[in-house]
Amino acid sequence: MIVIRIITCHYPGRQWHGGGACMYTQGLNEAASKAGAHDAAGEDSALLQRFEARIEAEEKIEPKDWMPAAYRQTLIRQISQHAHSEIVGMLPEGNWITRAPSLLRKSILIAKVQDEGGHGAYLYGAAETLGVSRAELIDQLLAGQAKYSSIFNYPTPTWADIGAIGWLVDGAAIMNQIPLCRCSYGPYARAMIRICREESFHQRQGYDIMLKLARGSGEQRRMAQDALDRWWWPSLMMFGPSDTASQHTAQSVRWKIKRFTNDELRQKFVDFTVPQAKFLGLNVPDSELRWDAAAAQHRFGPIDWNEFQQVLKGHGPCNRERLAARRAAHEQGRWVREAASAYAARHAAAAAAAAA
Ligand code: 3HC
Repeated sequence: MIVIRIITCHYPGRQWHGGGACMYTQGLNEAASKAGAHDAAGEDSALLQRFEARIEAEEKIEPKDWMPAAYRQTLIRQISQHAHSEIVGMLPEGNWITRAPSLLRKSILIAKVQDEGGHGAYLYGAAETLGVSRAELIDQLLAGQAKYSSIFNYPTPTWADIGAIGWLVDGAAIMNQIPLCRCSYGPYARAMIRICREESFHQRQGYDIMLKLARGSGEQRRMAQDALDRWWWPSLMMFGPSDTASQHTAQSVRWKIKRFTNDELRQKFVDFTVPQAKFLGLNVPDSELRWDAAAAQHRFGPIDWNEFQQVLKGHGPCNRERLAARRAAHEQGRWVREAASAYAARHAAAAAAAAA
């Protein structure tokens, strides 16, 4: 089944029509190019001080505001990787829409996969406010030059994997993304509020699938346990490299883009999720997992960072398949983008003629 969504986004200062060219107002273009001129000239220290004071005071930085080039670049990097993760993330679950075990499960799954497409649209929109076009970002993804979350390079061989994705992957996403609602960049923070609401529904539907399987026949319980075994460690890897290996965390925390470090969020996720696994009667596949009463935290075994690096380099179980599917979808959607652009152009011309 192909689900097509034509979305018209309205952000302050610009308009975008489903997949067509992005149209900025002149104002935003000017603001972006003025900021670029300052950046190239080595950045005005008075502007930098004002920017840092605003970050310190928890003010939101908005698209037309002056910002350091490195702040802009960090946001473009993170928001675009996030957007790519949302749309690549549609693939492992989209794979199960035709095979969901009931009409209700099918309609829930369709809604969830559509939500992920919507999240991609909000996030590409937020990235565009920083002066980069969505088409450029998509080209980077399709050329294999852009990163997206490691987690979506794993296969979904059974229905229980759909439960595990909702429970663990969306659960990890919420843990990581709730703090992003307080990110210092306004458009990203605002996009995250709605995304997090929807992710909560996704997490609950996944847990509900796991609960049904865990309370079902022996075979169903085995399916649920196998899916937990497959997804546990990759879910912990979603939070990124350990703090000692993370290149960007320290600066991103200073800029209040990230509010917690990768290890802090990973720990919160483990502490939150282990009791949920116990409630399901499933075993977390970690022989070193134990409760440390003094620290009031779970201690867990070492993560296989070699596996993480291999996935990032394109050698995960499904990297090639995912990119091939995105490239095919992009080609098959070409006529939709062209039609939406032609429609928008015709309406813009009619509006201009009426105003003249
Ligand atoms: N998968 C792929 N790449 C990853 C990664 C992961 N799980 N974790 C880290 N990386 C990459 C980083 O992007 C960075 O690459 P770059 O320098 O080439 O850009 C490099 O590894 C070093 O990592 P850092 O810790 O220094 O990078 P960050 O400070 O950016 O932290 C992050 C990584 C925690 C993922 C952060 O970017 C973040 O919070 N991003 C926003 C949330 C996001 O993108 N989540 C992805 C999942 S979305 C999702 O799950 C959808 C939902 O529907 C389920």
